[in-house]
Amino acid sequence: MQTNQYLIDFYDHYNEDGRLAVQHGSVEFLTTMRYIEKYLRPGSRVLEIGAGTGRYSHALARRGYAVDAVELVPRQVELFRQNTRPGETVSVTLGNALDLSSFPADAYDITLLLGPLYHLYSVPDKRQALREAIRVTKPGGVVFAAYVISDGCLLDEGFHRGNVNVAQYVAEGLLDGRTFAARSQPKDLFELVRKEEIDALMAPFPVTRLHYVAADGCALFMREAVDAMDAAAFALYLQYHFATCERSDLWGITSHALDIFRK
Ligand SMILES: C[S@@+](CC[C@H](N)C(=O)[O-])C[C@H]1O[C@@H](n2cnc3c(N)ncnc32)[C@H](O)[C@@H]1O
Repeated sequence: MQTNQYLIDFYDHYNEDGRLAVQHGSVEFLTTMRYIEKYLRPGSRVLEIGAGTGRYSHALARRGYAVDAVELVPRQVELFRQNTRPGETVSVTLGNALDLSSFPADAYDITLLLGPLYHLYSVPDKRQALREAIRVTKPGGVVFAAYVISDGCLLDEGFHRGNVNVAQYVAEGLLDGRTFAARSQPKDLFELVRKEEIDALMAPFPVTRLHYVAADGCALFMREAVDAMDAAAFALYLQYHFATCERSDLWGITSHALDIFRK
């Protein structure tokens, strides 16, 4: 099966909107939006690469920003279009993060790459997606790149929930039995990384890191507790999370990380 067909089959049936709508899932969304808002200026132009159903694109378009989006999976493009409200200045195109040649260079103030790097399995492909995201961003513009972090996922989906059979993953070579570093192929769908791999990936690019953020921290690991919080408890939890999500001693224990850098 081709790389893209695994993704198309997965995202044809996956409820991405539902994932971010529950309280524990909203932590990643609220954190990412908080950092995007730091860098938005009146009239900022935004590109979202791998936009899915358009949660971020629509939220930003509803605040008056002009947003273009590109997405690989036709069903997601269809849902993105259905989610568009009258008055939004937003466009969505079917396309691949690896080839944004239909988008001009130096055009966007903010570029979001929140998803494609979860599904690229080689360093050259990841660098190609990053290179394209950087190319279309204006000099001085800001790029947001999201990753799935292996230790957060292994602890949550593996040791905690048992959705991933850790012993089997080690036996099959998907996890290194000594370091517990993860290895994926297209059929495994998700590419899990650690910060040192992100640093090595980014090394050749002449960009300046602004923030490296544990986007959801332990929210997925302790999802039952987060979902049970009333409004006041959740507000305090978010206050804690926002105060600590850039602490280097908490970076590894997150399900998703956000690398934010200036071109
Ligand atoms: C986890 S979802 C995230 C959607 C959205 N950015 C968000 O954060 O809510 C990842 C999305 O990236 C898309 N995607 C994966 N690989 C891609 C690629 N090479 N080019 C464009 N989109 C891609 C998937 O189809 C999916 O809709």
